[in-house]
Amino acid sequence: MMIRRLAILGVGLIGGSLARALREAKAVGEVVGCGRGEANLRRAVELGVVDRYTHDVGEAVDGADMVFLAVPLGAMRGAFAAMKGRLAEDAVVTDGGSAKASVVADARAVFGGLPAWFVPGHPIAGTERSGVESSFATLFHNRRVILTPSETTDKDATARVDAMWQSAGAEVCYMSVEHHDRVLAATSHLPHMLAFGLVDALARMEEQDEIFRYAAGGFRDFTRIASSNPRMWRDICIANKDALGDMMEAFASEMRDLAETIRRGDGEHLLEIFERAKAARDAFVDGIGERAKRNDENPGTRS
Ligand SMILES: NC(=O)c1ccc[n+]([C@@H]2O[C@H](COP(=O)([O-])OP(=O)(O)OC[C@H]3O[C@@H](n4cnc5c(N)ncnc54)[C@H](OP(=O)(O)O)[C@@H]3O)[C@@H](O)[C@H]2O)c1
Repeated sequence: MMIRRLAILGVGLIGGSLARALREAKAVGEVVGCGRGEANLRRAVELGVVDRYTHDVGEAVDGADMVFLAVPLGAMRGAFAAMKGRLAEDAVVTDGGSAKASVVADARAVFGGLPAWFVPGHPIAGTERSGVESSFATLFHNRRVILTPSETTDKDATARVDAMWQSAGAEVCYMSVEHHDRVLAATSHLPHMLAFGLVDALARMEEQDEIFRYAAGGFRDFTRIASSNPRMWRDICIANKDALGDMMEAFASEMRDLAETIRRGDGEHLLEIFERAKAARDAFVDGIGERAKRNDENPGTRS
């Protein structure tokens, strides 16, 4: 068995899906869940996602050789503090938080330096839903997981986390913490701000009833992620405020240029922008399809 006992702190979409995936892959012995609410954890046992649960972090990590933090970013520091002095000798700790500098700062603050057994990570997979009920075993199939170990992170700890994610069907890649936070500000955090901002702006317009009545498929596709968990996103924005703030400024200037181009009636320039964007988007979608096909044909060798 690859993992003897896995402690999942925060048995929601991400934590629940990892537990399910590892169970399906027969890569884990026992799974212990931890959270605050009773109902979600009871449901996690009913669904077979965890074997047992506790509300006490220290008790959850007791004897666990792998600990996965899947709580919102604002709860990471408290979780580290609660596991301090309670971890097993061979325990490796990793997380799935959507921003990495804040989690690393939390670990440093609690442990007085970055522990060698902590491997920061982020699965680039998700949906707009939360809680164990919305978790599923294939969430990470053919998806990337970014690990951001430091120079002082134990190589064996990193290898164990890497192997865990591969068992869950993911493709593991590596980045520095700072690079991760800049890239994710652009590819995930900014698009979420656009969706939240657009829907909120329209909802506050006087004609909002009429606007939503005539909204069609395109609006629904574009705004799906505005149904994401507001608290989780509040935490992500605060955790990644500098990189996201910069990205939003750059985007605002792009929007101003676009508005001017439209006002000028400069069709040629508009066509240039839209053709460039369409080519980039088509190539991105084709790339996803190709990767999934390659991995499905060749499940042992994920590139
Ligand atoms: N959703 C995504 O698309 C996505 C993608 C990649 C990474 N992530 C990251 O993964 C983590 C979990 O996200 P998720 O989507 O799985 O959220 P989720 O479904 O809401 O699950 C989070 C779990 O953490 C527990 N929790 C919430 N607040 C807590 C607190 N203050 N202290 C302790 N436990 C708390 C909750 O249980 P109780 O309320 O019972 O405590 C809940 O089961 C976040 O750090 C997020 O940034 C999310």
